[in-house]
Order: sequence, then C-alpha cells, then structure tokens
Amino acid sequence: MDLELTPEQQMARDTARDFAAREVLPRAADIDRRHAFPGDLIGKLGALGMMGVAVPQAWGGAGMDTVAYVLALEEISRACAATGVIMSVNNSLVCGPIATHGTDAQKRAWLPDLASGRKLGCFALSEPESGSDAGALRTSARQAGDAGWILNGTKNFVTNGPVADVVLLLASTDATAGAKGISAFIVDARNPGLKFGPPDDKLGIRGAPCAQLFLTDAQVPSEAMLGAPGFGYKLALGALDGGRIGIAAQALGIARAAFEDATQYALERKTFGQPIARHQAIEFKLADMSTEIDAARLMIWRAATKKDQGGRYTTEAAMAKLLASEVANRVAKEAVQVFGGYGYLTDFPVERHFRDAKITEIYEGTSEIQRLVIARGVLGA
Ligand code: CAA
Repeated sequence: MDLELTPEQQMARDTARDFAAREVLPRAADIDRRHAFPGDLIGKLGALGMMGVAVPQAWGGAGMDTVAYVLALEEISRACAATGVIMSVNNSLVCGPIATHGTDAQKRAWLPDLASGRKLGCFALSEPESGSDAGALRTSARQAGDAGWILNGTKNFVTNGPVADVVLLLASTDATAGAKGISAFIVDARNPGLKFGPPDDKLGIRGAPCAQLFLTDAQVPSEAMLGAPGFGYKLALGALDGGRIGIAAQALGIARAAFEDATQYALERKTFGQPIARHQAIEFKLADMSTEIDAARLMIWRAATKKDQGGRYTTEAAMAKLLASEVANRVAKEAVQVFGGYGYLTDFPVERHFRDAKITEIYEGTSEIQRLVIARGVLGA
C-alpha cells in the first residue's frame, strides 16, 4: 500500500478541505442547533463531484477511487458530521450498489442525478423488528403480473429519507426463503405508496434528517429491481462494506475536529502560569488522541485501498469502522475534558463533536456487529 497520495487524491482532499472551511464549518453550529438539512451544501458538493466520488465519469460521477472518497469525506465530516453522513449514504449506499449491480438503463436513469447532487438517495434496510439481524426483515414485495411489484412494510432510521428523491430499498420477494428471498429495489421517493414519518429527534448529526418509511401498496415497475431476485441481502451487505469505510471516515473527521479544537484551546488556556498543553496531564491526552487518529486513518486507507483492488474487503472495512468509531468517541470525550467546564457548554463545538461521535458506533452495523464480522473473518465461519 502506497502512503503517498496521488495528485488526484490530493486534489480531492484539498478541494473538500477548502470547501469545508469556506462553506461548511461556518454553518455547522447552526445546522446542529436548528436541525437544519443543508440542502444547498449538498447541491454544491454535487457540483464538486463529492456526491458520486467513485461513480465512473461515464455515469456522471467524479471517477475517482475510494481513497479519494475517504479523504474528501474526512474533510467534510471534520467541518460538519451531519453533512458528512448525508454524503456518505448517497455515495456508498445508493450510488455504490447502483454502479456495481445496476443495468445500463438503471445507471442512466439514476446515477447522473445522484452523483451531481441534483437528487439525493437514501437506503432503507432496518425495520422496527430487524436492525442488527437485517436478514429478518419483513417488508414484502408481491409480484403483480406485468405491473411489477407491490411493496408493503415499514422501514426505520432512514437517513436522508425525508429529503430523498430515491430510495434503495430491501424487501422480501419470497418469504419462504428467508434472507435468500430478499431483493433490492430502486424506488422513486415520489411514489404515492411511500410516506415518511416525522423526522427523528436525535442526539447528534441533527442536520441529517432520519425517519420511518411506511410502504402501503407501493407499486413499482419490474425494472425497479436492482440485481437478481433473492440477491438483495448479499447486495445490502456488500453495500454496507463500502458504507462502513465511509462511516469510518466520518468518525475520523469528528475525531480530528475534537482533537484540533482541544489542541488549540490547550495552547491558549493557562493554569498555574502556563498553557494547559504544557501540563503533562493534558499533553499525554493530546499525544494519545493524535496517535489513535493516525491509527484509524491508516486502517481506513488500507480498507479503501483493498476495495479499490477488487475482491472482498469485509473484514478490513469492519476493522476500520470499529476502530475509527471508538477512537472518535474516546477522542471527543477527552476533548470535552480538556475544555473543562467550557466543554460542557454549547458555546464551543466540542460538545457537538461529543454528541455526533456516538452514532458512528451504532449505524451501518454496531460495534458489536463489527466485532462479529471481524471474528468471522479472522476465525473463518
Ligand atoms: N458481501 C457480499 N456477500 C456477503 C457479505 C458481504 N459483505 N457478507 C455476507 N455475505 C453473504 C454470505 O457469504 C452469505 O452467502 P451464502 O448464503 O451464499 O452463504 C450471505 O451473504 C449471508 O451472510 P451471513 O450468513 O454471514 O449473514 P447473517 O445473516 O449471519 O448476518 C450480519 C450477517 C453480519 C449480522 C449482517 O446481518 C449485518 O451486517 N447486520 C448489521 C446490519 C447493518 O449494518 N445495518 C445498518 C443499517 S443501514 C444504516 O445504518 C444506514 C444509515 O442510517 C446511515
């Protein structure tokens, strides 16, 4: 693995860093406070190629690799974790599987709009009674002759859902086959059989709207199926491998934000006649934080490189997500401690980083599920 970034990867990182500093960071506190979806930023990210970083140029994407994607996503998430996850879901969980498994007609119909930010995608897998046990989903797709499929069921925690134009949805086309009877569908969010519930009121990433999705006799054409019938579970787990690298990069961005804010504060704040950064109690915290951040970044780059090389990268993606999300939480917690009483106030962004970090240990597979996936990879299952 080459740790020297290519000119294209550097360009992706620098473009994202510049945009994040100019347009995202100044808005982050307000986005959080008002639970405000940053729709205009998503359009601008699309114009910069950030909503379909790894989508081939032939389908309207930036045609870059996964390393470029994680570099860009770290920068955007460093400024605003909510904007980061909106970008991650669109890239990894919607554009990714359509680019990998879609027919030319499906790619033509969806990818140029999704990759340019003209449309936004969401991924509907979890349900009220199936989260970690994703294969136990109950949403059904009943064949309706030539008319296509009729979808019924309820989906939970659909990030981007209330503002999405496109839903990548998993449903059972054969209840007798269990997980092998699950199929994937690309559904236009304007379908009259779809209804989103009110946005969930969340601890963090408040600018990324998330809601339940109710499907009531939603009719979709046969061409809406993505991949073969019964291939949906594998398609979803494969998409989540890519998604986990994205969430790892988001967690890394949050960790960096907390670390950089804490470092700056520690160099300015004085106690006992010197900046607190010069007290060993704080110095060692900052040393541990930066070491863990670098370790997480290396694992993310390894997983991204493995993805770009082709073949399975399930274990590497799970390891990167597990480590990066736990680092984000440890670093954010310590950063609040460095700020002392001020860290507990909403006046400083560090309390937002603390709240934003938590979800990275939960969505796209909890840390417990990552450990299960890693154990299966390591032990063979
Ligand atoms: N890629 C391709 N195929 C895969 C795969 C992958 N990564 N992982 C497994 N498979 C294949 C297996 O080889 C197996 O194939 P066969 O049936 O041919 O042998 C099949 O898929 C089923 O695999 P398992 O038997 O390993 O599956 P399982 O039912 O035991 O469960 C699990 C696996 C790891 C628990 C999985 O269900 C899982 O990851 N659960 C967590 C779900 C999750 O991450 N949800 C996130 C929701 S989306 C979200 O959070 C988005 C958001 O809001 C931002």
